[in-house]
Amino acid sequence: MPAILLAVTGLDPQPWEERMRALAPQRDIRLWPQGLGDPADIAYACAWHAPRGLFARLPRLRAIFSLGAGVDHVFADPDLPDVPVVRIVDADLTMRMTEYVVLHVLMHHRRHRLYDTQQRGRVWHEHAQPPASAVAVGVMGLGVLGCAAALALVRLGFRVAGWSRTPKTLPDVETFHGDTGLNGFLRRTEILVCLLPATPATQGMLELELIRKLKRDGAAGGAYLINAARGALQVDADILAALEEGSLAGATLDVFASEPLPPASPLWRHPKVTITPHNAAASDPRALAANVLRQIECFEAGLPLEHVVDRARGY
Ligand code: NDP
Ligand code: OXD
Repeated sequence: MPAILLAVTGLDPQPWEERMRALAPQRDIRLWPQGLGDPADIAYACAWHAPRGLFARLPRLRAIFSLGAGVDHVFADPDLPDVPVVRIVDADLTMRMTEYVVLHVLMHHRRHRLYDTQQRGRVWHEHAQPPASAVAVGVMGLGVLGCAAALALVRLGFRVAGWSRTPKTLPDVETFHGDTGLNGFLRRTEILVCLLPATPATQGMLELELIRKLKRDGAAGGAYLINAARGALQVDADILAALEEGSLAGATLDVFASEPLPPASPLWRHPKVTITPHNAAASDPRALAANVLRQIECFEAGLPLEHVVDRARGY
């Protein structure tokens, strides 16, 4: 039977291996690097930041499965063979991201960092609280994760807009698209949520000029940024400068150009920055191993793979 290779760095492959073996005991599942064996046995690679050049050394490779929703780590390989690249689309991962976005939008909306500080000083002081219906949230990226997050925010009563590459229609969400739609989207947005993929087109997008276009005089009392997408999109120095000059009132950052975020980064200590360790929507093997194995079974039964990434678009 064609073998499945788990090629993972930066996360623990053990739970993936255990889960896959439990779900498919008949399968030949191998763990890179020690368990690779004969590279010609490998038909499927399940990857998270696999070493560059590895896929090209697997002569019978039929498909690459990203163990996350993003595929930038796969496309970073300059020797990528011409096989389908599949990404994760799964209700478990989507719900995790929705939780994260809702949590951090509400944290800024309800000024939770301020109340945390007050608690440490035993300060009992209530601040004026606008209703969600007065606050404009903008979601960059209206894909699987962006749509789910936008709709959850609509249910909480926020004024929600979304921005995507191509036109989209979503109930109760004002939609914008393309370069021509970007300024209008930013100008009405107080809390900006980024759920774009990392591609050459989105690299470094979250920079000072873009941040300065956000709406600062709205009910939220300033502009906020939540980046749960990729660190490659954000310019850390510009985020710090925006916080300094007041064009940003706060930021939640889950992702960074260099991960783990280096201890020397001033972002760690900034009182208006909330940092999480790239866990907005963790890929949980308890849910996702079954997703990948089901795809392989369907593929072997002659059905088309789902969620194959468009190489030209890069996402
Ligand atoms: P999708 O591919 O479903 O959606 C991507 C969206 O971004 C689409 O709406 C697309 O537009 C839009 N987009 C892409 N390029 C551009 C552009 N140049 N200009 C405007 N819009 C653009 O991806 P997902 O929603 O599944 O995931 C989004 C990203 O979230 C992943 O790529 C990954 O990097 C990140 N992620 C982060 C996690 C974390 O834990 N921090 C966990 C999971 C994912 P269109 O609809 O027109 O194609
Ligand atoms: C993903 C991630 O892309 O966890 O799924 O970053």
